[in-house]
Amino acid sequence: MEITQKNGNIILRVENLKMYFPILRGLIIQRKIGDIKAVDGVSFFIRRGETLGLVGESGCGKSTTGRAILQLYRPTGGHVYFEGKDLTKLKGRELRQMRRRIQMIFQDPYASLNPRMTVEAIVGEPLEVHGIAKGKAKRERVQELLAQVGLNPYFINRYPHEFSGGQRQRIGIARALAVDPDFIVCDEPISALDVSIQAQIINLLQDLQEQRGLTYLFIAHDLSVVRHISDRVAVMYLGKIVEMADRDELYENPLHPYTQALLSAVPIPDPEVEMKRQRIILHGEVPSPANPPKGCNFHTRCPRVMDICREKEPAFVDVGGEHFVACFLYSDKVAEESEVTTG
Ligand SMILES: Nc1ncnc2c1ncn2[C@@H]1O[C@H](COP(=O)(O)OP(=O)(O)O)[C@@H](O)[C@H]1O
Ligand SMILES: [Mg+2]
Repeated sequence: MEITQKNGNIILRVENLKMYFPILRGLIIQRKIGDIKAVDGVSFFIRRGETLGLVGESGCGKSTTGRAILQLYRPTGGHVYFEGKDLTKLKGRELRQMRRRIQMIFQDPYASLNPRMTVEAIVGEPLEVHGIAKGKAKRERVQELLAQVGLNPYFINRYPHEFSGGQRQRIGIARALAVDPDFIVCDEPISALDVSIQAQIINLLQDLQEQRGLTYLFIAHDLSVVRHISDRVAVMYLGKIVEMADRDELYENPLHPYTQALLSAVPIPDPEVEMKRQRIILHGEVPSPANPPKGCNFHTRCPRVMDICREKEPAFVDVGGEHFVACFLYSDKVAEESEVTTG
């Protein structure tokens, strides 16, 4: 993927990222019989202070991409450059230092908070782990953080079950902010919340971004949420990014047949436009990431499939103005084969 303009302020660049999980067979002596290709050659970049939305159906590899960026999983292949430093090559102290700068907010605020820890312990833990503050200073810092995410600082001794879903997500956000990161992977942070609460959390994330100059990778399966919060949007299907463009460009001029199908399913608030909305129904199931189709991995469901799509994989190319698409309708460039070593 070539990045043409404004290279200077790119904070994160992901290059041909692959994350394969081995499929093992046998009880005593385990043999590897294949791979789940959860993320299979993903490339994108994010500029400082912007939000890149990452959308796609459940199981397409969004969370795995986020975890592989943070090095919570060690990628099978490819590179993750954060401010030019390849995180896949860092170990020990250097990796811990970088982890201070990159944080994650999780989908499920019920599961991601330890029920036996108080709010002070949950939000203060990263402060202690990274040697930033302890004792009274830590307590004060936690109270400041709670106030910043809209929680009462006097709730510091309470436990997660004493809070509502939205409040718990605020605790998760405070914990992520504790180490003063530059970049946050927001992994479906509102998907588990009541619709009435969702907008509040989105507004909080946007306010924090403005105040702190944060950069977000915002993961969602819902295209309308991503439209609201993102500067640019990347669309993922079965382990690969099929299209990436400026937010308005993507919604007004979707090129990839998969993006077109996804967008055709989003209701339009204007009743007159809504009446004319043509739904594109995709047939068949999403193939298994353990056995993705040859060629373009969308060809089995694509309404515009051509012969070449069954044989070759399209390259992810900029068709103009940083509108990237991997589809033979727009470019006959074939993706380069790159060898991967699996463990
Ligand atoms: N730790 C793991 N071990 C094995 N397979 C996994 C693991 N994590 C995710 N997967 C598989 O990888 C694919 C992508 O999962 P995920 O990244 O969670 O998708 P998404 O977040 O888009 O719903 C799925 O098929 C999932 O079952
Ligand atoms: Mg997920």
